[in-house]
Amino acid sequence: MESKVKIALFASGKGSNAINLLRYTLDDNRFSFPIVITDNPDAEIIKNLSDFDLELFVIQRNKNETKYNYERRLLYILNKFNIDWVLLAGFMKILSPYFIRRFYFDKFNFSKIVNIHPSLLPKFKGLNGFEQTFNSNDSIGGVTIHHVNESIDDGQIIAQAKIDIDRSKDFSFFLEEGKRIEHQLYPIIFNYILHKESNVC
Ligand code: GRF
Repeated sequence: MESKVKIALFASGKGSNAINLLRYTLDDNRFSFPIVITDNPDAEIIKNLSDFDLELFVIQRNKNETKYNYERRLLYILNKFNIDWVLLAGFMKILSPYFIRRFYFDKFNFSKIVNIHPSLLPKFKGLNGFEQTFNSNDSIGGVTIHHVNESIDDGQIIAQAKIDIDRSKDFSFFLEEGKRIEHQLYPIIFNYILHKESNVC
Protein backbone atom coordinates (compact mmCIF):
# COMPACT_ATOMS: atom_id res chain seq x y z
CA MET A 1 0.00 0.00 0.00
CA GLU A 2 1.22 3.47 -0.84
CA SER A 3 2.32 5.39 2.24
CA LYS A 4 0.33 8.41 3.26
CA VAL A 5 1.57 11.93 2.75
CA LYS A 6 2.29 13.31 6.21
CA ILE A 7 1.39 16.87 7.02
CA ALA A 8 2.19 19.02 10.04
CA LEU A 9 -0.06 21.92 10.97
CA PHE A 10 1.42 25.01 12.61
CA ALA A 11 -0.91 27.43 14.39
CA SER A 12 -0.53 30.05 17.12
CA GLY A 13 -4.06 31.23 17.86
CA LYS A 14 -7.63 30.21 17.37
CA GLY A 15 -6.73 27.62 14.78
CA SER A 16 -10.05 27.73 12.93
CA ASN A 17 -8.28 27.03 9.63
CA ALA A 18 -6.26 24.18 11.10
CA ILE A 19 -9.33 22.57 12.71
CA ASN A 20 -11.25 23.01 9.49
CA LEU A 21 -8.49 21.22 7.55
CA LEU A 22 -8.47 18.39 10.06
CA ARG A 23 -12.24 17.94 9.81
CA TYR A 24 -12.14 18.06 6.06
CA THR A 25 -9.52 15.34 5.82
CA LEU A 26 -10.74 13.11 8.65
CA ASP A 27 -11.75 10.21 6.41
CA ASP A 28 -9.26 10.72 3.61
CA ASN A 29 -6.71 7.93 3.59
CA ARG A 30 -4.32 9.61 1.17
CA PHE A 31 -2.79 11.78 3.86
CA SER A 32 -2.45 12.07 7.60
CA PHE A 33 -1.93 14.89 10.07
CA PRO A 34 0.10 13.26 12.82
CA ILE A 35 1.13 16.48 14.56
CA VAL A 36 0.08 20.01 15.35
CA ILE A 37 2.74 22.44 16.50
CA THR A 38 2.06 25.67 18.31
CA ASP A 39 4.42 28.20 19.82
CA ASN A 40 1.70 29.54 22.12
CA PRO A 41 0.72 27.62 25.27
CA ASP A 42 -2.51 29.66 25.46
CA ALA A 43 -3.53 29.08 21.86
CA GLU A 44 -7.26 28.43 21.57
CA ILE A 45 -6.61 25.60 19.13
CA ILE A 46 -5.23 23.46 21.97
CA LYS A 47 -8.72 23.12 23.46
CA ASN A 48 -10.19 21.94 20.19
CA LEU A 49 -7.90 19.08 19.26
CA SER A 50 -9.42 16.34 21.39
CA ASP A 51 -11.54 14.99 18.51
CA PHE A 52 -8.44 14.18 16.48
CA ASP A 53 -5.92 11.40 16.67
CA LEU A 54 -2.70 13.40 16.63
CA GLU A 55 0.04 14.69 18.86
CA LEU A 56 0.22 18.29 19.95
CA PHE A 57 3.58 19.94 20.54
CA VAL A 58 3.82 23.28 22.31
CA ILE A 59 7.26 24.54 21.41
CA GLN A 60 8.25 27.96 22.61
CA ARG A 61 11.51 29.67 21.93
CA ASN A 62 13.33 29.84 25.24
CA LYS A 63 14.80 33.05 26.56
CA ASN A 64 18.29 33.48 25.09
CA GLU A 65 17.75 30.57 22.72
CA THR A 66 18.95 31.22 19.18
CA LYS A 67 16.46 30.96 16.37
CA TYR A 68 18.69 28.29 14.87
CA ASN A 69 18.41 26.17 17.95
CA TYR A 70 14.67 26.72 18.23
CA GLU A 71 14.18 25.64 14.65
CA ARG A 72 16.44 22.63 15.16
CA ARG A 73 14.02 21.52 17.85
CA LEU A 74 11.10 21.99 15.48
CA LEU A 75 12.89 20.07 12.73
CA TYR A 76 13.75 17.26 15.10
CA ILE A 77 10.05 16.62 15.65
CA LEU A 78 9.17 17.00 11.98
CA ASN A 79 11.90 14.53 11.03
CA LYS A 80 10.83 12.11 13.73
CA PHE A 81 7.35 12.00 12.20
CA ASN A 82 8.66 11.97 8.62
CA ILE A 83 6.66 15.05 7.76
CA ASP A 84 6.38 15.79 4.04
CA TRP A 85 4.49 19.08 4.07
CA VAL A 86 3.95 21.89 6.57
CA LEU A 87 0.73 23.89 6.46
CA LEU A 88 0.83 27.19 8.31
CA ALA A 89 -2.50 28.43 9.64
CA GLY A 90 -1.95 31.57 11.64
CA PHE A 91 1.52 30.61 12.86
CA MET A 92 3.12 33.76 14.27
CA LYS A 93 6.81 32.91 13.94
CA ILE A 94 8.85 33.74 10.88
CA LEU A 95 10.68 30.70 9.60
CA SER A 96 14.31 31.11 8.60
CA PRO A 97 15.98 29.98 5.36
CA TYR A 98 17.59 27.18 7.37
CA PHE A 99 14.17 25.76 8.26
CA ILE A 100 12.63 26.36 4.85
CA ARG A 101 15.50 24.60 3.09
CA ARG A 102 14.54 21.30 4.72
CA PHE A 103 11.25 21.44 2.78
CA TYR A 104 12.59 22.87 -0.44
CA PHE A 105 11.39 21.06 -3.55
CA ASP A 106 14.32 21.84 -5.89
CA LYS A 107 12.73 20.41 -8.96
CA PHE A 108 9.88 22.91 -8.81
CA ASN A 109 11.66 25.74 -7.10
CA PHE A 110 9.26 26.05 -4.19
CA SER A 111 9.00 24.83 -0.63
CA LYS A 112 6.59 22.28 0.71
CA ILE A 113 5.55 24.82 3.30
CA VAL A 114 2.26 26.53 2.54
CA ASN A 115 0.67 29.54 4.17
CA ILE A 116 -2.74 31.17 4.08
CA HIS A 117 -2.70 34.97 4.15
CA PRO A 118 -5.74 37.24 4.64
CA SER A 119 -5.22 39.61 1.72
CA LEU A 120 -4.72 39.63 -2.00
CA LEU A 121 -0.93 39.44 -1.99
CA PRO A 122 1.29 41.21 -2.84
CA LYS A 123 -0.96 43.79 -1.19
CA PHE A 124 -1.08 44.04 2.58
CA LYS A 125 1.72 41.76 3.69
CA GLY A 126 2.40 41.21 7.38
CA LEU A 127 -0.03 41.20 10.27
CA ASN A 128 -3.79 41.79 10.16
CA GLY A 129 -4.33 41.54 6.43
CA PHE A 130 -8.12 41.78 6.68
CA GLU A 131 -7.88 44.95 8.81
CA GLN A 132 -5.25 46.48 6.52
CA THR A 133 -7.46 45.81 3.50
CA PHE A 134 -10.63 47.15 5.12
CA ASN A 135 -8.85 50.30 6.28
CA SER A 136 -7.60 51.03 2.78
CA ASN A 137 -9.66 52.52 -0.02
CA ASP A 138 -9.82 49.23 -1.88
CA SER A 139 -13.17 47.85 -2.92
CA ILE A 140 -11.95 44.26 -3.07
CA GLY A 141 -10.05 42.20 -0.54
CA GLY A 142 -9.30 38.53 -0.45
CA VAL A 143 -7.30 35.54 0.63
CA THR A 144 -4.06 34.10 -0.76
CA ILE A 145 -2.54 30.65 -0.43
CA HIS A 146 1.15 30.55 -1.26
CA HIS A 147 4.34 28.57 -0.93
CA VAL A 148 6.59 29.98 1.79
CA ASN A 149 9.94 31.34 0.73
CA GLU A 150 12.68 33.28 2.48
CA SER A 151 10.82 36.61 2.41
CA ILE A 152 7.67 37.38 4.34
CA ASP A 153 4.38 36.68 2.51
CA ASP A 154 6.24 36.62 -0.77
CA GLY A 155 6.38 33.01 -1.99
CA GLN A 156 4.87 31.65 -5.18
CA ILE A 157 1.10 32.15 -5.17
CA ILE A 158 -0.98 29.00 -5.53
CA ALA A 159 -4.49 30.48 -5.37
CA GLN A 160 -6.39 33.61 -4.49
CA ALA A 161 -10.05 34.33 -3.80
CA LYS A 162 -11.53 37.80 -3.99
CA ILE A 163 -14.03 39.28 -1.57
CA ASP A 164 -16.07 42.39 -2.36
CA ILE A 165 -15.96 44.95 0.42
CA ASP A 166 -19.46 46.16 1.22
CA ARG A 167 -18.83 49.66 2.58
CA SER A 168 -22.36 49.88 4.01
CA LYS A 169 -21.36 47.19 6.53
CA ASP A 170 -18.75 47.24 9.25
CA PHE A 171 -15.45 45.41 9.56
CA SER A 172 -16.94 42.44 11.44
CA PHE A 173 -19.04 41.59 8.39
CA PHE A 174 -15.99 41.64 6.12
CA LEU A 175 -14.01 39.57 8.62
CA GLU A 176 -16.74 36.95 8.84
CA GLU A 177 -16.88 36.72 5.08
CA GLY A 178 -13.08 36.49 4.96
CA LYS A 179 -13.00 33.59 7.41
CA ARG A 180 -15.76 31.82 5.50
CA ILE A 181 -13.73 32.09 2.29
CA GLU A 182 -10.53 30.94 4.05
CA HIS A 183 -12.31 27.86 5.34
CA GLN A 184 -13.53 27.02 1.84
CA LEU A 185 -10.30 27.76 0.03
CA TYR A 186 -7.62 26.10 2.15
CA PRO A 187 -9.01 22.52 1.97
CA ILE A 188 -9.69 22.79 -1.77
CA ILE A 189 -6.22 24.11 -2.51
CA PHE A 190 -4.59 21.68 -0.14
CA ASN A 191 -6.25 18.85 -2.09
CA TYR A 192 -5.08 20.35 -5.36
CA ILE A 193 -1.47 20.67 -4.14
CA LEU A 194 -1.33 17.11 -2.92
CA HIS A 195 -2.91 15.76 -6.05
CA LYS A 196 -0.36 17.68 -8.09
CA GLU A 197 2.45 16.36 -5.93
CA SER A 198 1.40 12.76 -6.34
CA ASN A 199 1.59 13.24 -10.09
CA VAL A 200 5.00 14.87 -10.13
CA CYS A 201 7.03 12.94 -7.53
C1 GRF B 1 -6.07 33.61 9.21
O1 GRF B 1 -6.79 34.77 8.92
C2 GRF B 1 -4.95 33.40 8.24
O2 GRF B 1 -5.20 33.95 6.99
C3 GRF B 1 -3.80 34.11 8.90
O3 GRF B 1 -3.97 33.89 10.27
C4 GRF B 1 -5.36 33.74 10.55
C5 GRF B 1 -5.50 32.50 11.40
O4 GRF B 1 -6.83 32.35 11.83
N1 GRF B 1 -2.52 33.65 8.43
P1 GRF B 1 -7.27 31.03 12.57
O5 GRF B 1 -6.38 30.90 13.78
O6 GRF B 1 -7.10 29.89 11.62
O7 GRF B 1 -8.71 31.25 12.94
